[in-house]
Amino acid sequence: MKDYRVLQQQFTVNSYPDRQITLVKGEGVYLYDQNGKKYLDMMSNYGVNIFGHSHPSITRALNDQLQKLSVLHGSFNNDTRAIASEMLIKRCGDPYSKVYWANSGTEAIEAALKFAVLKTGKKKFIVCENGYHGKTLGALSATSGDKYRKPFEKLLWQFLHIPFNNEKALERAIDYDTAAFIVEPVQGEGGIIIPDDGYLKKVREICDKRGILLVIDEIQTGVGRTGSFLASSAEGVSADILCLGKGLAGGVPVGATVVVQSVADAIPKHIHTSTFGGNPLVCAGVIATLKVLTNQTLQKVKTLGEYFIESLQSIKSDKILDARGKGLVIGVVVNVQHRNKLLKLMQDKHILVIPACENVVRFLPPFIVSKENIEKAVEAFAACVDLL
Ligand SMILES: Cc1ncc(COP(=O)(O)O)c(C=O)c1O
Repeated sequence: MKDYRVLQQQFTVNSYPDRQITLVKGEGVYLYDQNGKKYLDMMSNYGVNIFGHSHPSITRALNDQLQKLSVLHGSFNNDTRAIASEMLIKRCGDPYSKVYWANSGTEAIEAALKFAVLKTGKKKFIVCENGYHGKTLGALSATSGDKYRKPFEKLLWQFLHIPFNNEKALERAIDYDTAAFIVEPVQGEGGIIIPDDGYLKKVREICDKRGILLVIDEIQTGVGRTGSFLASSAEGVSADILCLGKGLAGGVPVGATVVVQSVADAIPKHIHTSTFGGNPLVCAGVIATLKVLTNQTLQKVKTLGEYFIESLQSIKSDKILDARGKGLVIGVVVNVQHRNKLLKLMQDKHILVIPACENVVRFLPPFIVSKENIEKAVEAFAACVDLL
């Protein structure tokens, strides 16, 4: 059999770490390598495959749309795009009014930045230390961390990085030139950091009081990941601009920038478009995903998430420094030198988990995960920790 790992490493740009396995098929909570070896997927492709792999109704919807019409420029109207847009706006609820369709999370952020400038006429943004918003140049300006930024500095406009979970720092940072504050409800890539209760609410109040826009990045936390459709609305908070991505289209590439009417009114024609944005194929994935994502599923994410986090917390080892999360976005903090070893040891046990920041093992399982799957993963993780 051809060694596809060697082939991929030879012909793709070397900007990703090599996890050393070649996965060729997915079914439910499992991924399969080229020799048919089965892996329990506890990462759902960084949070994309929220209903696992080859979900019957999502796959059917994508197949059906593929046979009808796959791509159609946004200047033409389309039934599937119209329905997906209406469904998403209704699901996001008040005060959201319109969506701009992009093709990835980072593109959703790019649109958010431009829309904020169009609405306010200002180019100064406040963002959080440890925050992650993507790697294209605009989004990278909002993203924290020398690792990603250093070679490209000086980056875009003016981005002021303040501590997360610190509303006083936000108050101090806002000035006349500030367009918006951009924040994740839970910092994902930054290490699954959950702010204090009420932080987001205080942030909303400050933004209102000081007349700046609030951009909430729910690319990782949105679409059910924390046990509510939006982590922010569960806290009674809405954004002026909301960014979504990851699992929204059931596994095909998507980004969505959802705006309130006053922001929508500030966006002129032609100013921001994308050939592929909101294509009917992706929109069919959005419709199918929103249909499958019932309140019952959200409740399951909450309950299983609590069980998962408590089970990880109950592992007795001084190698585990913390275990935390919300719904099914979960992180275990370990020493920096142990993180990659744990990823590898888990992989050797045929369980796939991913990193976050320098010292966190991240679990982002699909929502179809069972209690038994979780028990298996926790048992394996405890055994791996013992091997350190
Ligand atoms: C909170 C957040 N924002 C933005 C992004 C960028 O999304 P993408 O990788 O689809 O460009 C990510 C990706 O992990 C994310 O977690």
